[in-house]
Amino acid sequence: MRQVSGGSKRIGVIPGDGIGKEVVPEAVKVLKSAASARKRELILTNFDWGADRYLRDGMTLPADAPEMFRRDFDAILLGAMGDPRVPSNQHAADILLGLRSKLDLYVNLRPCLLFDARLTPLKDRGERDIRFIVVRENTEGIYVGMGGIFKKGTADEIAVQEDVNTRKGVERILRFAFDLARSKGLNRVCMSDKSNALQYGHDLWQRIFAELKAEYEDIEASHLYIDNLVLQMVRDPSQFQVIVTCNLFGDIASDLGAQLAGGLGLAASGNIHPGEVSMFEPVHGSAPGLSGKKVANPMGAVLSAAMMCEHIGWMDEAKVLETAVRAALSESKVTPDLGGKLHTEEVGNWLAEFVSRT
Ligand code: NAD
Ligand code: IPM
Ligand code: MN
Repeated sequence: MRQVSGGSKRIGVIPGDGIGKEVVPEAVKVLKSAASARKRELILTNFDWGADRYLRDGMTLPADAPEMFRRDFDAILLGAMGDPRVPSNQHAADILLGLRSKLDLYVNLRPCLLFDARLTPLKDRGERDIRFIVVRENTEGIYVGMGGIFKKGTADEIAVQEDVNTRKGVERILRFAFDLARSKGLNRVCMSDKSNALQYGHDLWQRIFAELKAEYEDIEASHLYIDNLVLQMVRDPSQFQVIVTCNLFGDIASDLGAQLAGGLGLAASGNIHPGEVSMFEPVHGSAPGLSGKKVANPMGAVLSAAMMCEHIGWMDEAKVLETAVRAALSESKVTPDLGGKLHTEEVGNWLAEFVSRT
């Protein structure tokens, strides 16, 4: 458990772009309500990093930000990065991918948990069928930004994007998945790769997985190629408990998993380095089409704040935030994506009120 500020906790808040700026204030409101009901001190510091700032003065991630977060903060809560006015996505690369990489947040934990059977698009599936966790490698793979474009804009141009897999990086994420299963009393880990086509990078995943399998004999370790994995997630999601995969495949599989569990509006995630300052954010993006309409679902952000509470050792707050979301779902206090009529802020108010009296 991190402890940089005695009993109180310091949280860096980065709302970002689009609906990030709408859902994060609601998550903060609910979090504050949970903390004050339990007489906990929460110190929140807002950072205006995102597309507006980038377009205004060119600033993305300040050079001293990683060190500042490590030194002065317990955790970071982020909304989303992405804006149609920045087609290069430069600010998202610097801020979002930059923090994942510079804080070495090598685990992207994305639970896919169906809270209410009414929410899944799958026929005849219920809460017991969809309760798995995607463990996405978060610092390597095709996301490292190695490569280049040669003869850009000509008929002969060549674009190269390297897929980087290190023994250290692959081993630590696979080990995390096995340890996570054990710590949650689970016994199945499925590793997914594309080693039938990627004969170097994913051969490394195969070999390290085989080594660890021998170490974790109590865990049933299976393997699926990524194309088969996504098919199996739809065909029978109940077979999965922990899915571990590389950065790119984890990005895609976790959006699919989110939809199986009710949609992106509900999906939470943590960018984690165990024991270190970590960053929590909804799985969804800035949804430019929804932005400004007051319809964005804030529950993914609230559940991300719950994951953050768990990381900083505020177990009661983590639990009450999740209980509040479950209660709102069962009472249909929801935004239009889940079939309701409430605005983002109305859902936030309902949740904040619920946690203040629970
Ligand atoms: P998106 O997640 O923003 O939206 C995908 C779909 O889900 C859209 O139909 C959207 O309306 C819906 N949706 C998303 N969040 C919702 C919510 N809270 N409530 C209700 N509906 C919701 O993905 P996209 O459209 O591919 O990307 C938009 C921008 O966001 C892009 O710039 C992209 O790069 C960025 N992005 C950022 C992150 C992040 O910051 N972690 C994640 C994904 C996408
Ligand atoms: C996510 C997003 C990001 C990713 C984008 C915005 C770079 O899709 O957090 O899932 O691919 O990691
Ligand atoms: Mn994504």
